[in-house]
Amino acid sequence: MAVKKVTWKSLILICCTSKESSVDSVTGKKVLKPCQFQRLSLSDVADPSSRIGVDDLPVSLIGSNLHVFTLSELRLITHNFARCNLLGEGGFGPVYKGFVHDKLRPGLEAQPVAVKALDLNGLQGHREWLAEIIFLGQLRHPHLVKLIGYCYENENRLLVYEYLPRGSLENQLFRRYSGTLPWSTRMKIALGAAKGLAFLHEADKPVIYRDFKSSNVLLDSDYNCKLSDFGLAKDGPEGGETHITTRVMGTQGYAAPEYIMTGHLTVKSDVYSFGVVLLELLTGKRSMDNIRPSREQSLVEWARPLLRDHKRLDRVIDSKLEGQFSNRGAQKVATLAYKCLSHHPQLRPSMGDVVKVLGSVQGFDDEFVGPFVYVVPTETDDSKEFLAKKEDRDCNGDNGLHRRCWRSRIKLPLASVANAESPCSI
Ligand SMILES: Nc1ncnc2c1ncn2[C@@H]1O[C@H](COP(=O)(O)OP(=O)(O)O)[C@@H](O)[C@H]1O
Ligand SMILES: [Mg+2]
Repeated sequence: MAVKKVTWKSLILICCTSKESSVDSVTGKKVLKPCQFQRLSLSDVADPSSRIGVDDLPVSLIGSNLHVFTLSELRLITHNFARCNLLGEGGFGPVYKGFVHDKLRPGLEAQPVAVKALDLNGLQGHREWLAEIIFLGQLRHPHLVKLIGYCYENENRLLVYEYLPRGSLENQLFRRYSGTLPWSTRMKIALGAAKGLAFLHEADKPVIYRDFKSSNVLLDSDYNCKLSDFGLAKDGPEGGETHITTRVMGTQGYAAPEYIMTGHLTVKSDVYSFGVVLLELLTGKRSMDNIRPSREQSLVEWARPLLRDHKRLDRVIDSKLEGQFSNRGAQKVATLAYKCLSHHPQLRPSMGDVVKVLGSVQGFDDEFVGPFVYVVPTETDDSKEFLAKKEDRDCNGDNGLHRRCWRSRIKLPLASVANAESPCSI
């Protein structure tokens, strides 16, 4: 079959033509809906019979503001891919920190960037690189990482992203030698990630992310989170279909059981993976760890039965939190994780529902039960004691009813101190 190559003019027409109309409520006249931009699918570019080639990308993705970099520009940005600039390495290849100067090209402001280079001998390849450009080039949201541009030169394929200074949630949650993430930060991250997934699922043309895991959740300096790595993302089912059937890809410990068994992929597969990350946030434990005792190696198998029984929750919640969490919040989140991890996809909540529940547990500060630091009084503290007693009286009120007053209970949650966040901000 002859493959007809489309021109950029015809493509823009495909993208912008809308036959839909509606009736104006004021004039009663029929009006055409404003030009709607139809998202380009991965299959439009990646399939062998595709009408659009990679060389057409700058035109096909017109309006996405993606920059096409040369390899020598990226060498300059990363100091020739210096080892000291290496941020990490995943299935796609190494990721380097770089800096774009304002004079590099018009319209591109000076900023730090992360440059990801495809490892030509690695597990992933051209299709994943393309998926990243097709999805992230067209989808913009505060909780999706921003793709700044890409490079395609001979066999070299690279991607340039905004730089997220705190790296991945995986690094932050499981790192050994620094303070633990406070409860409020964990809940903030969970909510942000849920919003990112809900945006993908609720798009006009839904997207299944397929690789939701803590290493793909990146964090900025204020712990705002952004989903990265769209290499495995898929367009959701269309035309009334309930699922798409595809090769099983993803990460062990995060992929939904029915997807692994049947290859049937739905948005509910992402909800399951989200449940796994929520469990990681609750427990501070990795989804899979063969160093743990055998019945605890799979986090879901071990923890899910405990989530239903709120009396056994203390066995699940991360001990590194030292009791500095909201009991009511933890119960809600445990129930939510339990539902997300249901073996029946139809019983899992939608990501929109997950956002609602997580929105309701932000800022809970009901019952911290963490350790107290007792300061031995000295002689000079006598006058302070008087002031402290007065403050106690002020806080509890004259009518004797107890009101919460943080300043009257000096608590120093070590983890929070290490992260420079006071319990008052929780
Ligand atoms: N935009 C970014 N900003 C800062 N660090 C990043 C960025 N993208 C990736 N990284 C770092 O590079 C590491 C490797 O990323 P990646 O290739 O996505 O592999 P993986 O997801 O398997 O960790 C991440 O864990 C993260 O620490
Ligand atoms: Mg990643």
